[in-house]
Amino acid sequence: MASLEKMASVKSIAETPNLASIPSSYIFSGSPDDKTAPIAMDNDSIPTIDFVLLTSGTPDQRSKVVDELGKACRDWGFFMVINHGVAEKLREEMMECCEEFYDLTEEEKRVYETEHVLDPIRYGTSFNPHVEKVFLWRDYLKIMVHPNFHFPSKPLKFREISKEYCERVREMGRELMRGISESLGLERLDLERIVNWEECSQILIANLYPPCPQPELAMGLSPHSDHCLLTVLLQNQIDGLQILHDHKWVNVNPIPNSFLVNTADQLEILSNGEYKSVLHRAVVNEKSKRMSLAVAIGPSAQTLVAPAPQLLLTHPPLFKHIKYKDYLETMQSGKLHNKSTLDCVRLL
Ligand code: OGA
Ligand code: NI
Repeated sequence: MASLEKMASVKSIAETPNLASIPSSYIFSGSPDDKTAPIAMDNDSIPTIDFVLLTSGTPDQRSKVVDELGKACRDWGFFMVINHGVAEKLREEMMECCEEFYDLTEEEKRVYETEHVLDPIRYGTSFNPHVEKVFLWRDYLKIMVHPNFHFPSKPLKFREISKEYCERVREMGRELMRGISESLGLERLDLERIVNWEECSQILIANLYPPCPQPELAMGLSPHSDHCLLTVLLQNQIDGLQILHDHKWVNVNPIPNSFLVNTADQLEILSNGEYKSVLHRAVVNEKSKRMSLAVAIGPSAQTLVAPAPQLLLTHPPLFKHIKYKDYLETMQSGKLHNKSTLDCVRLL
């Protein structure tokens, strides 16, 4: 198996002059559902949550948004957030910082090449090249930003901008968690207490999907669910995300200025399966570089995650408990394949 030291970044492969085909180790084949034609769908179909009504609406407006939030989590596991109050300028600057990071030399970036999932800054390619047979057309930078804040030393502005961006996204996430808590019939602050929000694990992931000469053969991110509670996604103007909905892959084209949020594995556990952690993947394209910034917000590393006790009065538990830190390590040890980590803690 290729060792990490010898793995070229996808960016460097894509920049090879006159590259007409992709290396065979990037060709996905086999899994029959992997390459089914996506079903195009309207933006309107993905639920939209008006964030300002959640924070400053009248009680009526708030309870309506809480219902919408519950329905979005139950039916889709994905929703767009509008009127979130995070300045467009800050979102753009954050995106620029990540682009500038990727424009550093390979040597400069490789300072952050590491193998352990709990290392605070990790630069790499694919998902886990040590165990993968086929590689993803994607480079990544993953930074732990909370409870301890980390940042790469270059570009220089990364520190200030990512600190503010991640704080703002975390505040938004907290309000969403409050709404989600209520939508499950719990008290507003129940979920954040259970996960110890003050110490929550927050990771900033910058995904780079360079243009690919044979996009139909490659995969940006193979189908996976996210390990955290909530993922907050921002992308450059280029689409590529698909989610599994009603057994079909659907394209997601988030509306400008919105965040795309999805409920992830820990919320599926906490809600005792009420809210699903939906499979999604990223496809690549021939012409344009795609970048996405995912902020994964999870419980504190030491939280013992289990279905909320209030939800077990009427239903048996569907998941056993697991410490979030152990969940992360289990996830990283294997390949990204369908829901493997969640299945490890499933009871029925
Ligand atoms: C992720 C992810 C989607 C995208 O980083 O977990 O699903 O569009 N990203 O890049
Ligand atoms: Ni994801």
